[in-house]
Amino acid sequence: MNLIYIDSKLEELIQKLFENNGPDPEEYEGILKLIDAIDPGEMATFREFMQPILNPATIIGFSFTKPFGYNGDFFIIEKIYQHYVNPDEKYKKWDEFFHTFPAAIAVVNRKTLAKEVLTKLNAGTDGATKNVMILGSGPVTEVYEYFNQIPTNNLIFDLLDLDNRSIAYAKNKHRKNLQFMTFHNQNVIRYTPEKKYDLIWSAGLFDYFKDKHFVFMIKKYYEFVNEGGEMIIGNFNVENPSRKIMEVLGDWFLYHREAEELIEFAVRAGIPFENIEVISEPLGINLFLKLKK
Ligand SMILES: C[S@@+](CC[C@H](N)C(=O)[O-])C[C@H]1O[C@@H](n2cnc3c(N)ncnc32)[C@H](O)[C@@H]1O
Repeated sequence: MNLIYIDSKLEELIQKLFENNGPDPEEYEGILKLIDAIDPGEMATFREFMQPILNPATIIGFSFTKPFGYNGDFFIIEKIYQHYVNPDEKYKKWDEFFHTFPAAIAVVNRKTLAKEVLTKLNAGTDGATKNVMILGSGPVTEVYEYFNQIPTNNLIFDLLDLDNRSIAYAKNKHRKNLQFMTFHNQNVIRYTPEKKYDLIWSAGLFDYFKDKHFVFMIKKYYEFVNEGGEMIIGNFNVENPSRKIMEVLGDWFLYHREAEELIEFAVRAGIPFENIEVISEPLGINLFLKLKK
């Protein structure tokens, strides 16, 4: 696609979209195809056309403008989890469109997967206390929903996040569960745990780490997994149909990785091969490196 094509056809399409206050479902596929065809040299022009929605009033614009200073903050993740739609007619259809992105659905799916893992761990405790650490804990919504669905909790949580606004939000959300939770305003790269855990979970964090940091983090935290416990690390798969729209409109760039790369990282970190597994949420867009001990 060249710039002339973008200028004429896309401008016309975008104008029509704005006149209609955003896309209707039958237009989603066409828009995604057009965006997939945009090459890096055309991105700035396209973003200029899209300016009316590239502000924090839409989810995609929130990502683009980064009001918290970085991508993937607790607030945008919570908007995805809560299926937030701006009631303003100018933005509503854009948020509805956003929630149909396979990547957004995969993020919601990873919350479900986390709840399943926590529920299973809790059920296997026979009343004894088990320790869980969450790295890059954000809104801690998976734990919130877990608490709401289990009859008796036997899990004790340590929650690490670099952003104290994220911690303040999560503490307020969890004010009824704080006896089971300790929040640490820490950088996971620098932090050294003070005890061992039956589960170390991290989703939405390692996709921001370079390969060498990923391997370093496995090595560092695997040391703090109890015998019989596990460490589970999420990372977006290279097979992510929403990657282009997230990059072009959301300015949201991640290290996408294949299952084989995740396995290789674990091997490089010295994890025995038989203890390594890769699982995923139902769409296969969020992979999880599962390391048993
Ligand atoms: C995309 S959110 C994911 C939140 C949560 N794990 C989830 O899946 O819903 C990433 C979180 O990691 C935090 N974070 C980013 N880099 C970090 C670091 N180096 N140390 C600790 N937290 C970090 C961010 O502040 C943010 O809350």
